[in-house]
Amino acid sequence: MAGAELIGREELAEIQDLFSGEKVNLYRYGGGNYKAREFEERFAEYMGVKYAHAVSSGTAAIHCALAGAGIAPGDEVITTAWTFIAPVEAISALGAVPVPVELDETYHLDPVEVEKAITPATKAVVAIPMWAPPKMVELAAICDRHSIMLIEDAAQALGATYRGRKLGTIGRVGSFSFDAGKTMHTGEGGIIVTDDKDVYDRAAEFSDHGHMHLVGLPRGKDPRRAKGLNLRLSEVTAAIGLAQLRKIDDILSRTKENKKKIKDAIRHLGNITLRPFADEDGSQGDTLIFRVRDREAALRFEAHLMECGFGTKILPEALDWHFAGVWSHLLPEFDRYRDVDLEMLWPKTGAMLRNSICLNIPVLMDDATVEKLVEAIVTGAEKIG
Ligand SMILES: Cc1ncc(COP(=O)(O)O)c(C=O)c1O
Repeated sequence: MAGAELIGREELAEIQDLFSGEKVNLYRYGGGNYKAREFEERFAEYMGVKYAHAVSSGTAAIHCALAGAGIAPGDEVITTAWTFIAPVEAISALGAVPVPVELDETYHLDPVEVEKAITPATKAVVAIPMWAPPKMVELAAICDRHSIMLIEDAAQALGATYRGRKLGTIGRVGSFSFDAGKTMHTGEGGIIVTDDKDVYDRAAEFSDHGHMHLVGLPRGKDPRRAKGLNLRLSEVTAAIGLAQLRKIDDILSRTKENKKKIKDAIRHLGNITLRPFADEDGSQGDTLIFRVRDREAALRFEAHLMECGFGTKILPEALDWHFAGVWSHLLPEFDRYRDVDLEMLWPKTGAMLRNSICLNIPVLMDDATVEKLVEAIVTGAEKIG
């Protein structure tokens, strides 16, 4: 799984560096080191933004991004019906109302559905790039027209671009995750990026109980203007992040190369449909998605891949954590989702997801493994007929 495959000596060296000073400090405030600050600076440089603020997870990152952008109780926030549940949890934790909408053919926010969902209470649209770009120009135009914010939860899409612009940097604020399944891995961890100083300040304050981090004041005297939580990143995590960030271009180019080889070898298969892209050049390498005839075919395909030694990624095996239509433990806290059949709210998305196969493309793949995976896909396609 991307960066997790390459954890090694370089990460250890950064951690050892933390322990090499006279005084060991594993806490990001006070006492020297400040790997977290250095990581944020390097990450901001890499993304080409003014500000980056690192936090304890990707869930924390979207939570801080939304809080920093001023999302407040009662605000409606439009997002997609296909996402890991974290952004919807974050919206709900802020007392705002998640408004998932149907996917387009690229498995992202459908601009037509977004526009239909806008009400006077809509404050933001959260685009969730799934290893590839959503239709960012259309989404940005809609947000401009309605004076609402475009936010990107790019947890899954570090390194993906849209028309040459890095995802996560197009909206007012973007967030990323560094968990075990992501392009960069730090154990746990996440980060927000933005060019907006006010959003950055407020997000950073939210991640640290509201501390305003005023220079020259002792921490105990630091003032606050809003509430927050402890979503801080530790120095150890940041040290790992510094080493991983230096590997990012290698990770991205290797997975892209592997994915291209696999796609080129399965393109001819008539009974699987590779997903189309808003900008294929901007798509990332570590995941491949295709659709088959129906749910039954998808489950047979999954079983066949398992027999060949390959697991799937999210679809179909973890659909329950990635589709709003089954979140009856969360969504009914909002009036609009009470006593309704959630599945029926997003029928197109439900059908798309249930008919889809999503595969992880490793960084480290020798030719024999590429061939074995291609063979598994080709024979899987034969099996479903
Ligand atoms: C879109 C999205 N946001 C947030 C997260 C949460 O990230 P983490 O596991 O680091 O909390 C994920 C994780 O898969 C995700 O896909």
